[in-house]
Amino acid sequence: MEGETEQNEQKEQKEENQQNEQIENNEEKEENEKNEQNKQNGNKDENEQKVEYEILSDDVSNVDFSFKIIVIGDSAVGKSSLTLKGTKDHFKDFYTPTIGFEFLSFNIKINDQIVKLQIWDTCGQEVYRSLISSFYRNSSLAIIVYAIDNQESFDNLESWLDEIKSQTHPNLKIFLVGNKSDLSDQRAVSKESAEELAKEHNLDFFIETSAKLGTNSREVFIKAAQILLEDYKNYKDKEGKDPNMSTEKSSISLTSQENDEDDKNKENEEENMRRKKCCL
Ligand code: GTP
Ligand code: MG
Repeated sequence: MEGETEQNEQKEQKEENQQNEQIENNEEKEENEKNEQNKQNGNKDENEQKVEYEILSDDVSNVDFSFKIIVIGDSAVGKSSLTLKGTKDHFKDFYTPTIGFEFLSFNIKINDQIVKLQIWDTCGQEVYRSLISSFYRNSSLAIIVYAIDNQESFDNLESWLDEIKSQTHPNLKIFLVGNKSDLSDQRAVSKESAEELAKEHNLDFFIETSAKLGTNSREVFIKAAQILLEDYKNYKDKEGKDPNMSTEKSSISLTSQENDEDDKNKENEEENMRRKKCCL
């Protein structure tokens, strides 16, 4: 009888030990899974480098950095729509060709620094080509737009690239944007061929957007501010001086002071453009 009790106790003890072992194993497994998950999240964050930003109103006065951006590309590809949607979250369904250029600004705070983008949205008509090239001056970044449903607008990119590269400085950043991505059933240009072109020309960023739906339109300008800010800082760290002090890099960025002057010039240029248009 005593032997039986002893046997039972031993059995219970064995079962208890097994249960404890099982619990420990499970805890260890959970801990490992948690670590693996954290590791993956950590890597993901590192790769994505999430940017902290805040969109500011137009009347911000204490701007830290100011950059000039030019938007170019064929007529009716959606340059004005993209700029308007990306900066003011507004879209017009009807087509009003831009005459000369339109000017918009976009203020954004990135890592506690206020960046002002001065965006010059140009007209795509061939007849104005030689006139708008005068606006390339002092641009830090060019956004070249084509429409994904318009093969010709894509084929013309080479000539836009040639023109912008020959008329500006080697440090100009260039973005390629395939707009009207909502028209995927009428797609004429594949994403792959645009990616290839961007790679071939060593462009700084490529994205497809829909100004109509607002897909990626704001991202274009956030990315622009981010890249220009990084470029400015890298240059300053490397060269130990402000890019504005260098003649070679003078167009990498503009100080607020320079831009005030540029704003005044803008009004004159606008007036000149109107006059020239009258005489065409
Ligand atoms: P120019 O000023 O003449 O050089 O043209 P643009 O490139 O500024 O084109 P604009 O923004 O005026 O757009 C031309 C037409 O395309 C307009 O009717 C817009 O409503 C339309 N559009 C612009 N973006 C999109 C888009 O993402 N999707 C669709 N479906 N239509 C768009
Ligand atoms: Mg336009």
